[in-house]
Amino acid sequence: MAGGKLKVGVLISGRGTNLQALIDACADPGFPAVIELVVSNKADAFGLKRAADAGIPTAVIDHKAYRSRAAFDAAVDETLRAAGVGFVCLAGFMRILSGDFVERWRDRLINIHPSLLPAFKGLDTHQRAIDAGVTITGCTVHFVRPAMDDGPIIVQAAVPVLPGDDADRLAARILESEHAIYPLALRLIAEGRVRMTGEKTVRRDGVPSAGALINPSPD
Ligand code: GRF
Repeated sequence: MAGGKLKVGVLISGRGTNLQALIDACADPGFPAVIELVVSNKADAFGLKRAADAGIPTAVIDHKAYRSRAAFDAAVDETLRAAGVGFVCLAGFMRILSGDFVERWRDRLINIHPSLLPAFKGLDTHQRAIDAGVTITGCTVHFVRPAMDDGPIIVQAAVPVLPGDDADRLAARILESEHAIYPLALRLIAEGRVRMTGEKTVRRDGVPSAGALINPSPD
């Protein structure tokens, strides 16, 4: 490993604000991971520009050019390995990965999802949270398993739903926390501070931050 750092590949499909948060974290010389490659299945993903601006190599692997999911996933796998990647972060990657790919990268593949999993898996999470009337939602970084938005949870942030929120306002508030917890999760893993017991993660030196978030607030 170059400089002892975890060599990361990031898979994206779109604007890449979480990618940017990871890029910014990796810019700190003390951060224990380095992004070796950004792969997008969409040639017009804005995240590709973010990577290029940071001097990070990029690859476009268009899923429409492959006859099957397995063939597309094999191309992604090969590209990551050829770049020397040892750990993968999904950051707004809008393709479901096959069980084969997920097993190959087991415990070396993480995702960020804009809800407090296991609540609100899938798409349209913010509107569904509003429709359900929850007062607290949030975001989750988790290891990827074959089922969608499933797998051992690494870090979560709780975010309040506020009066008058629509999906966009809520999404923007959650996104701020996503940008905090994705680099945190990657750092904890790269520093060996997350260990698995069965299908749960345990922080080696873990203390939860602060107190509970209560919404509406008691006062
Ligand atoms: C984020 O909300 C992330 O949680 C979800 O997809 C969105 C990607 O946003 N998986 P960005 O491309 O990182 O800005």
